[in-house]
Amino acid sequence: MKEKTLSVSAIKQGTVIDHIAATQALKIVSLLRLSENERRVTIGLNLKSRSMGLKDIIKLEDVFLSEVEAAQIAVFSPSATVNVIENYQVAKKYRVEMPSPIREVLSCPNPRCITNGEKTTTLFVVEENNGLAILHCNYCEKRFSLS
Ligand code: CTP
Ligand code: ZN
Repeated sequence: MKEKTLSVSAIKQGTVIDHIAATQALKIVSLLRLSENERRVTIGLNLKSRSMGLKDIIKLEDVFLSEVEAAQIAVFSPSATVNVIENYQVAKKYRVEMPSPIREVLSCPNPRCITNGEKTTTLFVVEENNGLAILHCNYCEKRFSLS
């Protein structure tokens, strides 16, 4: 008999962020403040995945993501899929898409950048290079990749 077990229990209503690159889930939860407002959040780290080797997963009960939040998740893991759960069923499934420009969620790796001093909101323009996202700081011109 084919066996399918859930490492993390199913949710009745809310959002499952699946296929997150391993190691990125905690960053996503903290930078997007997904556990604020007494939200019930279940996190699975380093789960076995046929397509990815290891993956992370985040389940948010009674929470539905905004377009901006879904785009911010792509910054940390472009492979992530968002599943909207209604009455235990997957009502909608979509792949996250990298936003451009990226605002606020990241800090600039240049310690002398003005965004690490008096001005704290950041803005990065995304350029793609062979499937790799290259970020370009709007304030100090620094270019860097996230991997
Ligand atoms: N899920 C959940 N609670 C539910 C329904 C689904 O937590 N009530 C989770 C599943 O565990 C899975 C994700 O939501 O991690 C997507 O569910 P489903 O589409 O049924 O799984 P797969 O077919 O494996 O998804 P994919 O094809 O995207 O890999
Ligand atoms: Zn900068």
